Amino acid sequence: MPATVVVGSQWGDEGKGRVVDLLAADSDLVVRYQGGNNAGHTVWIGDQKFAVHLIPTGVLRGKPCVLGAGMVIDLDVLLEEEGELESRGIPVRGNLRISENAHLILPYHKLIEEQEEKRRGKRAIGTTGRGIGPAYEDKAARRGLRVGDLTDRQTLTDRLHDAVKYKNLLLKKIYGSPSVDPDRLYHDLVTLHDHFGEAICDTSLVVQEALDSGQRVLFEGAHGTLLDIDWGTYPYVTSSNPLSGEVAAGAGISPKLIDHIVGAAKAYTTRVGAGPFPTETEESLAQKMREPGGEFGSTTGRARRIGWFDAMVVRKSVRLNGIDALAITHLDVLDQFDEIPVCVAYRCDGKDVPSFPNDIARLAGCEPIYETLPGWTSDTSKVTSFSDLPDNAQRYVDRIGDLVGAPVTHVLVGRERDQSIVR
Ligand code: IMP
Repeated sequence: MPATVVVGSQWGDEGKGRVVDLLAADSDLVVRYQGGNNAGHTVWIGDQKFAVHLIPTGVLRGKPCVLGAGMVIDLDVLLEEEGELESRGIPVRGNLRISENAHLILPYHKLIEEQEEKRRGKRAIGTTGRGIGPAYEDKAARRGLRVGDLTDRQTLTDRLHDAVKYKNLLLKKIYGSPSVDPDRLYHDLVTLHDHFGEAICDTSLVVQEALDSGQRVLFEGAHGTLLDIDWGTYPYVTSSNPLSGEVAAGAGISPKLIDHIVGAAKAYTTRVGAGPFPTETEESLAQKMREPGGEFGSTTGRARRIGWFDAMVVRKSVRLNGIDALAITHLDVLDQFDEIPVCVAYRCDGKDVPSFPNDIARLAGCEPIYETLPGWTSDTSKVTSFSDLPDNAQRYVDRIGDLVGAPVTHVLVGRERDQSIVR
């Protein structure tokens, strides 16, 4: 498929990095279209762990990568990530293109986010603290600085001084916190531009040219559908649109060019940060899955909340994203259970709820209805073909596909590259 999208169909951390890594092997270009370094995609190559936050996972396959216009980019983090990967033998420099239209995350965004989370107190979102929300706020308010603004030093001086003046007022008068030095920030940004300047361009043309010449382009979603600012569990969401619909705007291509959409879904559900989670299990059960599933945030290291597979969530994702095929990850983590509950519906005040509610107050009143499937209690981590999975594991996977309305084409049974079943 020339243009394939991988999206997360739950609350993020579905193992998209693993799925992208698998599909990137047959791709010519890998493109991120939204979010920033709040994402964390983990890939194991042998016994080496790689966690990328900004650079598309495709870089680990040596593929050219694009940071699209819909992203918010912290160039300090990018520099660090590039250095770390290069020092471990992954070529980055020549493979990277950065959109001139992407917005910059600047130090004041992180300071403001920290203060805002404190101000919210009990209602804190539990953000990753990377300045994502404040950077997207500035973008929407039309006072953000874009990567392309670094190219012209006069424009940079003018825009930066204007922005810092405003932010320092906010930091001082509203939050009573230390301010930012505009001259130092200018100097840091110029140094970063000297380093990245050649990679900055109109990346929509790079993607278009790749598609026009018949190359295979993979669009790498970050976060998950339920963290989408419009369709997620607002306000406990991120500040961008992880949905496949954002590929067109965030990468700068026509939506008509998208051929195939793969949804990544964990065989159970996890969530980091605050917000509703109908199938969340009690902690003793969560602990059984946390270690084998590596359920600690790859960006913040926080222990993830864990629950059973929720078909209401993934059904909504299949519909909103137009998911053609599902990649089920972490199936091996369920090897230990005699029985596995799957949420098939919600009930509220004795009535069936037709679809996953948009309003979290309504969601809080929903009771998950479970169907219990028999477990397989045997090791799936070495299985390489679908027909060799235990019968009950095959039934589990197919039941999930039936419940959410999309065929399961990939099943991942471990962290290694070869622990992948393609149907
Ligand atoms: P922010 O994106 O840092 O503003 O955080 C907003 C919410 O999204 C918080 O609940 C985060 O934990 C969550 N979040 C953001 N990115 C990810 C991700 O990549 N995986 C899982 N949760 C995420």
